[in-house]
Amino acid sequence: MPNERPKAYRGVAFLKVTSVKHYTDKTFSFTCKRPDAFRFRSGEFAMLGLENGDKPLLRAYSIASPNWAEELEFYSIKVADGPLTSRLQSIQIDDEIVIRPKPVGTLVHDALISGKRLLLFSTGTGIAPFASTIRDPETYEKFEQVVLTQTCRDVNELAYGNALIDEIKNDGLLSEVVGGRLSYIGTTTREKSDNMGRMTDWLKDGRFAVATGSPLNPETDRVMICGSVAMLKDHKQICEDAGMDEGSNSEPGQFVIEKAFVD
Ligand code: A2P
Repeated sequence: MPNERPKAYRGVAFLKVTSVKHYTDKTFSFTCKRPDAFRFRSGEFAMLGLENGDKPLLRAYSIASPNWAEELEFYSIKVADGPLTSRLQSIQIDDEIVIRPKPVGTLVHDALISGKRLLLFSTGTGIAPFASTIRDPETYEKFEQVVLTQTCRDVNELAYGNALIDEIKNDGLLSEVVGGRLSYIGTTTREKSDNMGRMTDWLKDGRFAVATGSPLNPETDRVMICGSVAMLKDHKQICEDAGMDEGSNSEPGQFVIEKAFVD
């Protein structure tokens, strides 16, 4: 008889880690092999974590890899006293992570009505779901322009986003699909850089309009937002002030936020 695991492990899958990359002392990404039956829509998250005695220790993690890739990629913060990330940050190739293979979420095309420009607003590791969305050909079938923004405290935290854009540029197939219609604006708030300040302030004071060519337009712009509770609240307010309605899987709208990461 194989070793019986406690009941709480029913329905979860164990996946081998295939790569780990540390970006900063606060962030890292890792990949694992994707089971054949594991399907997801770009922007969705899954419950992921580590084996932990009677019950796996799981948290909501956006899937950062595109939905056509053979591997699943995740981008995580490191919290020194975080129950999961304090352990997860030291995973190595061939270690196993635990995942509930039932991805869900609202940062998906299905939750937005059609539009011309897709705006993806993120802070910190909130860029993860959009790393998937911007590598999905469907995104470029649905939208003429895609703008990804990420606000971080320090310059080195923008390395993941910059690497992602470089990867797309260097991928023959993907760069053809994207065809110059994707732009990435990384801003910092604590360390000096060329683009300083919160994107919420950029939207309010006109810097967003200058950088992207036009201000937020409820007629043609569709918005996805991912970040901290305070960030979600402020971006949501800006969308609502512009006359936009929040969408969901059952009732698509003009903007969507992901509440799964709200503690
Ligand atoms: P700031 O440095 O001005 O607080 P955190 O690590 O606290 O989650 O923040 C990540 C990034 O998100 C920081 O650059 C931070 O800016 C920014 N940020 C925090 N709160 C908000 C908010 N309410 N709206 C927009 N950006 C925010």
